[in-house]
Order: sequence, then structure tokens, then C-alpha cells
Amino acid sequence: MYYPEHIIETIRERSDIVALISEYTTLTRKGSSYTGLCPFHNEKTPSFSVSEDKQLYYCFGCGAGGNTITFLMQKENMTFPEAIKYLAERENIQLEDHYQSEEEMHRNQKKQLLFEVIKDAAKFFYLSLRDERHNQVLEYLITRGVLTDSLKQFGLGYSPAEYNTLYKHLSAKGYSDQTLLESGLFLTSKNGGFIYDRFASRIMFPIFDVSKKVIGFGGRVIDGGMPKYLNSPENILFNKSNVLYGLNFAKTANSECYILVEGYMDVIAMHQAGFTQTVASLGTAFTASHAKLLKRYTKEVVIMYDSDNAGVNATLRALPILRSQGIKARVLLLKDGKDPDEYLRKYGKEHLFKLLEEAQPDIMFEISRIEQKYDIQIAEQKVMFLQEVANRISEIPSSIEQAIYIDEICAAYHIENSAFKAEVNNNYKKLKHVYKAKENEGGAKSRRQSVSTEVIFLSTLYHYPNIIRHVRKHVEPEMFESPLLCDLSRAIFQAAEQGEDIDMNYFTAHYPDEADQNIISHIIMNKDKRYEEQTILFKMITENIKRLKGNYLGKKMNDSKDANEKQKLLFQKKELDKLYIDFING
Ligand code: GTP
Ligand code: MN
Repeated sequence: MYYPEHIIETIRERSDIVALISEYTTLTRKGSSYTGLCPFHNEKTPSFSVSEDKQLYYCFGCGAGGNTITFLMQKENMTFPEAIKYLAERENIQLEDHYQSEEEMHRNQKKQLLFEVIKDAAKFFYLSLRDERHNQVLEYLITRGVLTDSLKQFGLGYSPAEYNTLYKHLSAKGYSDQTLLESGLFLTSKNGGFIYDRFASRIMFPIFDVSKKVIGFGGRVIDGGMPKYLNSPENILFNKSNVLYGLNFAKTANSECYILVEGYMDVIAMHQAGFTQTVASLGTAFTASHAKLLKRYTKEVVIMYDSDNAGVNATLRALPILRSQGIKARVLLLKDGKDPDEYLRKYGKEHLFKLLEEAQPDIMFEISRIEQKYDIQIAEQKVMFLQEVANRISEIPSSIEQAIYIDEICAAYHIENSAFKAEVNNNYKKLKHVYKAKENEGGAKSRRQSVSTEVIFLSTLYHYPNIIRHVRKHVEPEMFESPLLCDLSRAIFQAAEQGEDIDMNYFTAHYPDEADQNIISHIIMNKDKRYEEQTILFKMITENIKRLKGNYLGKKMNDSKDANEKQKLLFQKKELDKLYIDFING
């Protein structure tokens, strides 16, 4: 999907960068901009700055920078069109008809309508939990240790026991039966005679998507009824394999290592205890889509499923899925207390914190499971066990990791290091070609880019525009090698001449690339106060003109075949060495 410039402009102008970024970090106003802790790296003192009028952000610590679109690209791993779409939806901007097929438009309208229905239902459930008639439901949650703040944060509610209170409430708001049925909140009686509430008599857990919109519900019985939990059926808003419960909150925790648990109550208990990086898949198996979603936010996960057989098996299934997405996994099996919620109540958060720090690497967890298949007191079985382990170890791409595990295993099972290594290597050779292919799939890009002197030069010109009239005599935009810097210098010169600010829309539309936006942010947002001292400013400007123009002339000389011209260029270059700009006298 290609979006034309004016659409990008509209989205840029209408989207509120402060509101958007506030979902990830707390921003406080400071003069003309906002500051806060950087959502891209861990820090204790704020070095992250957001400019409302320029619609840009920049981190003086790690150098991350850009606009609303690049923010989503960096933070949510969205593609450019995805970010545009997301912002348009968020700001309620209709992407014009011909950028959307009729079908797409229809679908979006339906989505908007369903969002409304679900939101109204969530409000209804929320209020009815606070209705004194349902006091014993609230009591139940409180005795289970859910704090008032959590009730509010997670928007917990109650769907009353009468069979159609929600239906009556939403019908009265004017929603059609068809719309209500599509929301998944209702069922029709067998004979089609009447519509009733699917979740009647359940505690309601709203399920949020990453942009904090409610897209469905989980409902828990209070008595011992069956099924214990009921989830909204899938529809155009709600796709179980694309949501993780708690992720809307977890993503703001800016944690390096997420925690994956099984249940709604586990997520709430964990967040309450301060482990706000905890998420759960919704009573369904953990899928590759979940892993892809997580990968936007973290590189490492600790799995802390229930310690029963089902939990162990689910863990063993989740491990290769995480691994296949490049997420490092560790496992914490709670020995005593069935699930994290119970465990926290029994032992407290300090205890759990310690256990989490010591969670087993995935390999070691798998090995302990392999061991259970064999009776390693019997020599033959021990051999088979170790062969299976060697096979598993050989699948680890990093030889450093391999070496570490090999040492651990050899010590634990009293075997000769070299013999075991040989076994691993035999297996490894068979696999080698597979890794080669994987390695070539593309290396990780590093966020922090070194900032070129040209960028610093342009930034100084932008922030100290009075200097530009002196610089103009020596510098042409063409002297900048990259098209972006060439364009930016032209805009900066022009803006200074006309006493205006540069047209940010142009740069958003023409340079959507993250790396380019990063440079733009660096230039616009990063005013170096050192240059308020005039002599320092003059010195830096002179040096930069010399370097920039010198490089430019040098390159032209190399390219030129005309001896006369070469001579001229050489002369200019020599003159440049003598360059002394008398700034003070103009
Ligand atoms: P509590 O029993 O209230 O502590 O909840 P829990 O989250 O600990 O429940 P449990 O460990 O039994 O289940 C873990 C998760 O699996 C739940 O949070 C649900 O998402 C899901 N789940 C459990 N039972 C059912 C069920 O009967 N149907 C469906 N669809 N999901 C279920
Ligand atoms: Mn539980």
C-alpha cells in the first residue's frame, strides 16, 4: 500500500505525539518540550525529549529519534504503512476511499461499530461490579487478593446473572440485533426466539489490544460452574493468537525480560506485585503469532506456567516457538503452589523475584525433562540419555553457549568433557549447513548510530541561524553527500533566509526511513548549548566549512579529467586552508 504525501501530512499534523508517547513513558512539560525516561533504553534520569510543535522526539542518551510514524516503527516494529494505518485509526482519520478497497472500508466501519459496542459493554460490566446488589462478587475478588487499584486498572467487571441485562442495556442504546450478535457478547436461543447474554453471571476480564482498546472478554464463573472461563468468540476485532493478556500494560514496563504465565488471575497478581512485564496467552496454546507479537517488545522471556503436568507440557511446546522467533527463553517451574497467583500469596514477591533471577535456561529445563525419560542408573540408558542431550546441545547455534552447557552437563552427570564434546560435534556437523542459511537471513541492526560531523554541523546551523549568512558564501547544499542532508541544508538555509521554520511535512513524507528520521530528529531536537559561546561557535563553523568544502573539492578533482579545471579546484582548495571568516565584522 502506497500512501501519497498529503495523507502522510494529515496524519502527521493530526496525530498527537505527546499522547502517543505518553502511553509508553511519563512525560512532563519542560519549557517548550516534554521530557521523560527514554522508552528505548533503560535509564534513571530522563534524557528523552518530545517536541509538540515539531512533532519529533529525541533521546540524548541513546540517540533514538523521529516522529510519530518512526516511533511506532521502532517501538512496535510496525512497517511504514502499518504505522500510517494505525495512526489514522487512532486519530479517526478516514484514509480516502481509493486507498482502501470498498471491502476494506466496510470492514473498518464495522470494526469501529464493534469497538463501540464492546466499550459500552465493558462500562456496563464495570459499573455492575460496583453495584451493591453484586457485593458478594466484589467480595470474592477482594478475598482472592485483587486490590482496588487492580480492579480499576484491569477494568474488571461483572455480568449480572439475569439472562439479558446487557442485551436490554445495549439495545436501548440503539444497537441492532445483528451488530450485537456480531460482537460475540450474545447468543440466540435454539429456536431463534430470543437473544441472551453469553457471559451472564460471570466475572468479566476485558481483553485489551496493544493500543488499549477493549476487543473482547474473558468471563470466569464464581461458583464451580463449567466451563470455568469463557472467552469471546473470534471476530474481526478479536483474534486469540494475536493478543496477549496484559501486554498493553507490560509494553510500558520497558523490561528486557518478559514473564509468560497461564492465567488472567496470574497476570493481575503479578502486575500487582510489581512484575508489570507479565503477559498470558488467553487459555489457548502459545503460538508463533504470540511469539511474533512478543518479539516487538522483548528478546527474552521467562515462562512461568502452572507447575502441573499440563503446565510442563505447555512449557515444552512454547520453548521451540519462542526460539524460532529468536527469543531467548528461560523456565521457572514453581515447586510449591500451583500457579504464580497462589505462589505470590503464599511466599510474597521478594521470594519470587529471586526465583525469577535464577530461572533455568531453556536447554537446562529441556534436559531435566529428557532425563525423566530414562533411568540413568542403568548404563545403557544413561548413554541414550546423553546422546539425546548431545543432540539437543548440537542444535544451539552459539558455540560459546554450547561450551557452557557442555561443562555444566559433564559436571552434573560425571562424564568426560572431551568425549561429550565429540558427540556434540558429530551432530553439529550434520546441522552446520542449516545454520549457515539462517545466519545469512540478515543481521540485527543496531539502534545507536554514530552521528556524522555533517549532522552536527547542520544541527548547529539550524539552532544558530544567525551564522548562516556567513556560511552561505562557502557552502552549497550539494556539498553534502547524502540526499537527505543535501535537502535538509537547503531547507535550513531557505528557512533562515525567510525567517521561518523548516517544513517538517516534507521531510516526513520524503524520508520515511527510520535511519533518516533519526538524523532529522537529531538535527532539529539536539541543540548544543556550547555554541552559545560565540568563539566556540565560530571555530566549529570554520572547521566544518573547511572539512565539508575540502572533501567536496577533493572529490571533484578526482573526478575531473580537465587539467585546467583540476588546477582551479586545487587553487580553491588551497584558499580554503586559509579560510578565516570574520564573523564579527560580517
Ligand atoms: P483461577 O482459577 O481463578 O485462579 O484462574 P486461573 O487463571 O489460575 O485459571 P487456570 O489456571 O485454571 O487456567 C489458566 C487460564 O486458562 C485461564 O486464565 C483461562 O485463560 C484459561 N482457562 C481455564 N479454564 C478454561 C476453560 O474452561 N475454558 C477456556 N476457554 N479457557 C480456560
Ligand atoms: Mn489460579
